[in-house]
Amino acid sequence: MQFLSFFLSLGLLLIVIIGNGLDSPELHLREATDFPVGVAINPKRLVQAEYAQVVGQEFSSITAENVMKPQYIWAAEREYGFSLGDSIVTFANAHNQQVHGHTLAWHLMQPEWLENSIASYDSATLENLLRDYIQAVVKHYQGKVVSWDVVNEAISSDGKGWRNSVYHQKLGDNYVARFHQYAREADPDVLLFYNDYDVVAKPEKLATILAMVDNFQSRNIPIDGIGMQMHIGLDFSLDKFQYALDEIVKRGLKVHLSEVDIRTNPDGELSSLTAEAAQKQRELMTEIVRRYNQLPQENKFAVTFWGLRDNESWLTKHTGHPQWPLLFSENLDKKPMYQGFLEGLDVNQTKLE
Ligand code: G3I
Repeated sequence: MQFLSFFLSLGLLLIVIIGNGLDSPELHLREATDFPVGVAINPKRLVQAEYAQVVGQEFSSITAENVMKPQYIWAAEREYGFSLGDSIVTFANAHNQQVHGHTLAWHLMQPEWLENSIASYDSATLENLLRDYIQAVVKHYQGKVVSWDVVNEAISSDGKGWRNSVYHQKLGDNYVARFHQYAREADPDVLLFYNDYDVVAKPEKLATILAMVDNFQSRNIPIDGIGMQMHIGLDFSLDKFQYALDEIVKRGLKVHLSEVDIRTNPDGELSSLTAEAAQKQRELMTEIVRRYNQLPQENKFAVTFWGLRDNESWLTKHTGHPQWPLLFSENLDKKPMYQGFLEGLDVNQTKLE
């Protein structure tokens, strides 16, 4: 009988040790970098204890994947609701994390009442509504949010000019500049970013963004950084990436890799993440982080992943197939891509072994 009780006690002890995480101390991403490492989250997932623990332990920056977009805040012409965004600020404060605001103006995810009424507004009315919205949101989050994507994706998909959005149709070429001015008027300190996708994949888009920056800087229009979304695949061009980094840094701007995910299954041929695809994803992550980490300190803003774990990625619905694009698996296990991030920092990983 004593023999049995001994082994039961030993088993219980092992469960307690593993349960309390008394395994070897692990290095977390936020401890390994000299720049913020971020993740886009849905605040409703923070009630899941393990999810919240990983977000709090690994990341030093948080972006709201959706709840700080106009669709979630802008209830009526001059009525705003901040509760969901505030819950993210509360979590970030409790975990010593910065909050990046995404996004003040975007042609998508506008509130339904605005979708239904925007055609009826004349330009001056729409401009005033947007100015008041931008300034109300920036003032509400003043001192709580370190930065904003002021305008998201205002340049056409082919990168050759302004997107023909309803904002551009009604407000003209200069609306992005004016929106930056409105945000600056509301908060003299918040960092103002322009955020877009395919900044590397489409040199025309990078050129248009750089021309916009040059124009802004010649007119003292406030802009502090560029968000390169980095929704990429394994065919990502590191040479074009380095060129984009160099050109943005030449202009004295901060670089935010703002929505990083690396798709591994573009044609939908894989039914699981193969070791080969995982290794390619790991190696690409290493090279991206290595180049980012070599930027001058004042130009490093953050590297933000567009979700925590693979199964929650927007890409599954967007592409119709699983892409396993993020740092953590569905079970919140660290993937080779996670190790790849640390390898890009040339971090001593003995603590990880
Ligand atoms: O919340 C509703 C839910 O009540 C409803 O039952 C469900 C029905 O489909 O829709 C839910 O809203 C969805 C929302 O995500 C929250 O999950 C919207 O349909 C869906 O369109 C929305 O997708 C988001 C997308 O932006 C909107 O275009 C993605 O989660 C988000 O990852 C994605 O993020 C964008 C960045 O903001 C800008 N850069 C590109 C990136 C990917 O599109």
